[in-house]
Amino acid sequence: MDYKIEIFLNGESCSFAVSEDETLLDTIRVKAGLEGCKRGCDSGECGACTVLLDGQPVNSCSYLSVQADGRSVVTIEGLTKGTELHPVQQAFYDAGAVQCGYCIPGMVLSAKALLDKNPAPSSDEIRKALSGNLCRCTGYTKIEEAVKLAAE
Ligand code: FES
Repeated sequence: MDYKIEIFLNGESCSFAVSEDETLLDTIRVKAGLEGCKRGCDSGECGACTVLLDGQPVNSCSYLSVQADGRSVVTIEGLTKGTELHPVQQAFYDAGAVQCGYCIPGMVLSAKALLDKNPAPSSDEIRKALSGNLCRCTGYTKIEEAVKLAAE
């Protein structure tokens, strides 16, 4: 059975017909076509699928679309304005924090959520906030530097 849900996706009201067990990741990637939201482990371990739900980072592979009904969802595509990068994206670029890039959309969204709450985080706070986002290239030092750069 399908349910009709309405989500405020990157600032636009969007409706989708979803099954009861459909994940938010599938709705975003397959139905909305926003492929910046990555499928990594598909089991809530890696953070590649991170989106902001009402401003909080969640693993969209482990979140049911029906639970997002009526809520705000921001994906990496929602941060750019035309060709202009969001300051957090720009900081990742400037700090050379992007290697293969697969984890970066999730990292950027988790970093944005942190900086929205805490504009001057310590190294420990950055590491804690990004602890759910795994980088297989092991570029954590540059990623931490990027978040500090974004905070400046
Ligand atoms: Fe969702 Fe890894 S794909 S946490």
